Amino acid sequence: MRRPFVAGNWKMHGSKAMIQTLLAELVEGAKPLESVDMAVCPPSVYIDYVKQGLVETKISVGGQNMADVAEQGAFTGEVTGVMLKDVGCDYVIVGHSERRTLYAETDEQVANKVSIALAEGLTPILCVGETLKERESNVTEKVVGSQMQAVLDKVGVKAFAKVVVAYEPVWAIGTGMTASPQQAQDVHAFIRGLVAKQDATIAESLIIQYGGSVKPNNAKELFSQTDIDGGLIGGASLNAVDFLAICEAAGDACSK
Ligand code: PGA
Repeated sequence: MRRPFVAGNWKMHGSKAMIQTLLAELVEGAKPLESVDMAVCPPSVYIDYVKQGLVETKISVGGQNMADVAEQGAFTGEVTGVMLKDVGCDYVIVGHSERRTLYAETDEQVANKVSIALAEGLTPILCVGETLKERESNVTEKVVGSQMQAVLDKVGVKAFAKVVVAYEPVWAIGTGMTASPQQAQDVHAFIRGLVAKQDATIAESLIIQYGGSVKPNNAKELFSQTDIDGGLIGGASLNAVDFLAICEAAGDACSK
C-alpha cells in the first residue's frame, strides 16, 4: 500500500510575513492528518525560515530546483543539492515544466539533477508532462515516456525506490483546466507500467503525484484513481485552508 504524498510548490511567491501566517495555519491544521505525507517547497531564500517554522511538525521541506552539477563552484545564482540538504530539505522538485520551458532544461539535465539529488540523500520529485499541442497530436505517452526514460537510463530502475514522480500536464498548470480523473489515471498507469517493465516491485511502490490545477473541489476524485498517490499543488498550496483540504482528501482517497 502506498502512502499518499502531497507537496506544495509555492513557485516564486512569498515573504516572511506571508509565510508566518501560512505556517501558523498549516502547523495547526496538519496535526490530525496522520495518514498523508506532506511537504512544502518555498523559494530557496526562505527554505531555512520555513524549516524553522515547521520543526514541531511532520511537514517536510523541499527545494524547487537545484544545479545540475554536484560540486560547489563558480555557478552564479545556482544552489547545490548539498546546500538544500544542509538547510533541511528532504525533497527537491526536478524538471518542473516551467524550468523545462522557461529555462530550457533538457531531459539530460533533469536526469543529472535526479542523479545528484539521490546522491545527496534528497528525494527528487521528478516532473513529467505533455503540452496541449502534444496531447492533441496524440503523443502524450511518447513525450512522457521519453522524459521518464532519460531518467531511468541515467539512474537505473532501482533508484526509483527513492524517486517521486509528478505527472503534470503542462496545459493544466495554473490554468484552472484540470485533467479529468480518467485522463490523469491513464497517464499514471502508463508511467507505472513503464517502470514495471523493468521492476514490478519498484513500480508497485512508486509514488506518482498528479499536478495541475488541483483544488479542494476536484482533489478527492483525482486522488481516488488507482494510480494517483497524491498531488503536487501550486496555486492552492498558498492558501492553508485549501492545501489542508487537499491533503485531507489525499489521506481519505489514496488509502489503497
Ligand atoms: P497549479 O500548479 O496547482 O497552480 O496548477 C501545479 C504545479 O505547477 O506544480
